[in-house]
Amino acid sequence: MESPYDVLGIDPDADTDVVVRAYRERVKEAHPDHGGSVAEFKRVRRAYEHLSAGRDPSTFETDGRQRSSDAAQGGTRTDDGGAGDGPSDRSDADDADEDDAEEETLGPTVEYLDYGVVEAQGWELTDEDLFEKAEAADLDVDSHGILVVEDRESLLEAAERYGFSWPYACRGGACANCAVAVVNGEVEMPVSTVLTDEMKERGIRLSCIGHPVTDDLQVVFNIEHLPGLAELRLPAEQFGNARADD
Ligand code: FES
Repeated sequence: MESPYDVLGIDPDADTDVVVRAYRERVKEAHPDHGGSVAEFKRVRRAYEHLSAGRDPSTFETDGRQRSSDAAQGGTRTDDGGAGDGPSDRSDADDADEDDAEEETLGPTVEYLDYGVVEAQGWELTDEDLFEKAEAADLDVDSHGILVVEDRESLLEAAERYGFSWPYACRGGACANCAVAVVNGEVEMPVSTVLTDEMKERGIRLSCIGHPVTDDLQVVFNIEHLPGLAELRLPAEQFGNARADD
């Protein structure tokens, strides 16, 4: 039975840092754009989430089957309730169905980059090879990586689900604390915001209310101190659950 450690290619006694580093490497390899597949990508992500949540590694396979079963409720799979409910009775066709279901349910994938790194490296948001340089720089997973946005999640909510601390204050479109620069792809915001038309034309979006509308995006976060946005920030302490980097 495969464990989440096997999926990440690390020893069972690996500490948190090793798990995070392994995840960062494996999730890049597993991404469809880098020669992997959606199913593999989701498997690596699930292994990381399983370990990060402190769940029992021995339940990784059974949890995954349960999730697939839940996702298939009302879908194309037909569990007749007869013999064959146990894991050992699963067929290749079952596995193929599971992969197909994952193909259908994978949300938009977002490659993110911390503006703090852009600034420190002397890069520019307009650099055409910005994310190639980030890839080559072997950055920490907090600064650069890939995440998947689930149905109805905002960008900020997705980042938080992965355990990242992107800045925010009001969570309602009234400040620029959570601003991100969308370098590739598109993010829609459902309500009017403090952003000017010129900012929006430059790809600036608010991660707390922004939802991807393209399958793949490249986003730079932590841009709230840029001229124009800094003036629109609200004091984080004004909001009880706000988070800021300053
Ligand atoms: S946190 Fe204020 S607009 Fe997003």
